[in-house]
Amino acid sequence: MSKKLYISTYGCQMNVYDSARMADLMAPLGYTLTDKPADADMAILNTCHIREKASEKTFSELGRLRNMRQDKKAKQDGDMIIAVAGCVAQAEGAEIMKRAPYVDMVFGPQSYHHLPQMVAQATRGVGHILETDFPVEPKFDHLPEDAIDKNLSAFLTVQEGCDKFCAFCVVPYTRGAEFSRPVASIVDEAKRMIASGTKEITLLGQNVNAYHGEGADGKPASLATLIQKLAEIDGLHRLRYTTSHPLEMTEDLCRAHRDVEILMPYLHLPVQAGSDRILAAMNRRHTSDEYRRIIDKLRHYRPDLALSGDFIVGFPGETEQEFEDTLQLVRDVEYAQAYSFKYSPRPGTPAAALGDEMVEETVKSERLARLQQLLNEQQLAYNRSFVGKEIDVLLEREGKREGQLVGRSPYMQSVFVPSPAHRIGRIATVIVQEGNANSLRGELKPGSVADAA
Ligand code: 5AD
Ligand code: SF4
Repeated sequence: MSKKLYISTYGCQMNVYDSARMADLMAPLGYTLTDKPADADMAILNTCHIREKASEKTFSELGRLRNMRQDKKAKQDGDMIIAVAGCVAQAEGAEIMKRAPYVDMVFGPQSYHHLPQMVAQATRGVGHILETDFPVEPKFDHLPEDAIDKNLSAFLTVQEGCDKFCAFCVVPYTRGAEFSRPVASIVDEAKRMIASGTKEITLLGQNVNAYHGEGADGKPASLATLIQKLAEIDGLHRLRYTTSHPLEMTEDLCRAHRDVEILMPYLHLPVQAGSDRILAAMNRRHTSDEYRRIIDKLRHYRPDLALSGDFIVGFPGETEQEFEDTLQLVRDVEYAQAYSFKYSPRPGTPAAALGDEMVEETVKSERLARLQQLLNEQQLAYNRSFVGKEIDVLLEREGKREGQLVGRSPYMQSVFVPSPAHRIGRIATVIVQEGNANSLRGELKPGSVADAA
């Protein structure tokens, strides 16, 4: 009999990828996905430690699941296995077991390949299961062959962990040290994805450009080398990678943006702040001018490169002038899109010891609003600059309106076009008619997609 699995996913694309792999691992045990937690025979919270008040939010969601489980039992409608996965599990596993003893299993991002065994144990009532070690045997070797992302535009994890230790960030503690998969196993996975219909692959890693997996000659290969290898696979139309750190935007990687045709002209390259003093306090290990020079180099090789970034305002001690330096950097770079956050302390990180009271909450909010206004203006101007132009769009799915499809441009914009659904999966040329804050609208160029099956 089919059982129902509910997975609630927070945070980054790595978690989205991990959740999909967990669903793949559970399928052979008879579990199909549901989006209704109340119906679930098993519920997994795949948590993110980067979000604010991460552990409190986890506990309150766990409380809701416990109530649903009690309702199920009261109605004699079976039971529910409750699991916590992801970075909060990694960081606070023991605490979760203590405060929420009804939780059956807690496991970190490096352990989910043991899920079938853990579920078997939980069903046998073996007691609580806590797996938050960083196992020596990499989990990727244990994923079933068909545990792959089968979407048209799909994710492929090539690297995990981070050795950078930015002062505000929990990732080095929750995801552990940098680890890269060997080139051959990534190429294998990519081939299987392409055979199942994937046209666009985004290579994932917390620090993806620190990639140094084993190459064909047994020596570490760079991300640029990996990209070149993947670009040789027939049937792959588009490649992207995320997230990168400025320190590892090496010459060969920058040049790949010129030389590798299927590498899309879009790069998410967080800088966090524009003041050199704040960058040093954040332990980013580069100055704002060094970042500017990297952008210049990238644009030299790929003039139409669309840039995205992450920003934090109100880092402890940030002055008005230092915040202005961030605005100036944004004006200099001109982003196609970006993410921005108010600083908030994460337990256990070096910045948390600096005290959060150094920049008042109202000042943080006001700075965030000013930064976001500038970023939004840039994004709108960027999108409007496409009006009248032709761009290639991978048509991925139906849009909100009847008879409409939506896909991504090479520059990562969502593009809406009127089109029958059978064109999903095609890369079509679109004439852009409208550039909005978050998307483009246009129409298919006549004759740009062959309709033959
Ligand atoms: N406070 C605010 N933003 C943070 N980020 C990471 N840690 C914090 C924090 N303590 C942001 C950074 C990072 C993005 C994923 O989340 O900008 O690049
Ligand atoms: Fe966190 Fe910095 Fe590593 Fe990014 S590079 S994951 S912000 S420590």
